[in-house]
Amino acid sequence: MRTPFVHDGIKNLHYEIREIVDFGHALEKLGVKISWENIGDPVAAGEKIEPWIKEIVMNLMKGDASWAYCPSRGVLKTREFLADIVSKRPGSVQIGPNDILFFNGIADAVDKIYDLIKKDDRVLMPSPSYPTHTSNEGKRGDYSYLQFRLDPLNNWQPDLAEIENMIKYNPQVVAIAIVNPDNPTGAVYTPDTLKGIVDIARRYGVFIICDEIYAHICYNGVETLHLSQVLGDVPGLALRGISKDFPWPGSRCGWVEMLNSDSSPEFREYCDGLVKSKMMEVCSTTLPQLAIPAVYGDPRYLELKQKRAKMFERRSNQVYEYFRDNVPGTIARPTHGAFYFCVAFEDGVLNDKQTLPIADPATREFVEHSVEGVNLDKRFVHYMMASEGVCVTPLTGFHTDILGFRLTTLDPDDSHRAKILERIGNSIKRYIGA
Ligand SMILES: Cc1ncc(COP(=O)(O)O)c(C=O)c1O
Repeated sequence: MRTPFVHDGIKNLHYEIREIVDFGHALEKLGVKISWENIGDPVAAGEKIEPWIKEIVMNLMKGDASWAYCPSRGVLKTREFLADIVSKRPGSVQIGPNDILFFNGIADAVDKIYDLIKKDDRVLMPSPSYPTHTSNEGKRGDYSYLQFRLDPLNNWQPDLAEIENMIKYNPQVVAIAIVNPDNPTGAVYTPDTLKGIVDIARRYGVFIICDEIYAHICYNGVETLHLSQVLGDVPGLALRGISKDFPWPGSRCGWVEMLNSDSSPEFREYCDGLVKSKMMEVCSTTLPQLAIPAVYGDPRYLELKQKRAKMFERRSNQVYEYFRDNVPGTIARPTHGAFYFCVAFEDGVLNDKQTLPIADPATREFVEHSVEGVNLDKRFVHYMMASEGVCVTPLTGFHTDILGFRLTTLDPDDSHRAKILERIGNSIKRYIGA
């Protein structure tokens, strides 16, 4: 090529949740049977879609509207429906339909949200963090991430003083990003923590990006507050979608609540920029947008939401009780939202000499080669995949230095999960003792 043209930030695009799949497929070719406990797709994991939701979608397809483009911001009736829900939340910021902007999934929104911030400005984000956020932040400016720690010893909650110091001493921070309920930790931010983050944002003049894709999955006695309810006059973006709660991840449908979009000329310009960048793509997919009022407005949706929350509560507690009672050297905490469970390793427990038995010489050689120079938690995950056939995601794949792994609680079969937990637990014990 006549001149190097590739964006320096490309090297920061990492999505371990799917990258580990390539490694798993390579093991499968070598004859290892893999149980996939890594990807957060409820449908692929076997959850059945409610027949009444399928019927709504199929009836929509019989008409012509879903075959056409829709307005760039999204289907007006759906935006009116969603804006009304936001404005009726207790204590909420009031918004109108033009403050709702549809995307092809939250991942599409995240891409544009980070892209439209100036190259040298920074977004502060959690550690661990959902990699779509961190990767997009890393790609834009090619800087190392500015992060605050979610503490496994404090139920994966952040320390407000650390957040404030990160913002105070890094004047280029213009926004704070959080995921609530959180992926990967399953933690739900307490109302006091959310209000504390808003207070810091107000005092330092930064805005808030809150990914609420799991807002409908809270349990173990915890309800979450939505960003719109705590934000007051601070500018913010709340990211929502149907991937995890119809659930319909294949619809690629999500939206952003642009909250207090008129709070300053600059935030207005930024929100208008988000709309314009969607216009460049014409619009987002029409069909799932048309389904939203019919599904969320159906009395059966509330039942479904409650049923699923109970289901994930039961599964999460099964995982928690297993690790609490059986696996020394690890830190596990009860979760309150989403369908993930993080296990952290205690400091100093892992080293680069530990292994697990792998009978087949070709597989052993492949794994030994794959772990050269990788993080210690990824090293454990590779050995466990080859030895036990269980695929989880190493925690360092979520841009953190906390060593551990994340598994999903999506397997519909509780007794199968019990067996998987035994296999993971036994692998940890043997690996640590090796
Ligand atoms: C925190 C978080 N945000 C966004 C997404 C992607 O959402 P969507 O399917 O709407 O792009 C995921 C998917 O796992 C997620 O965990």
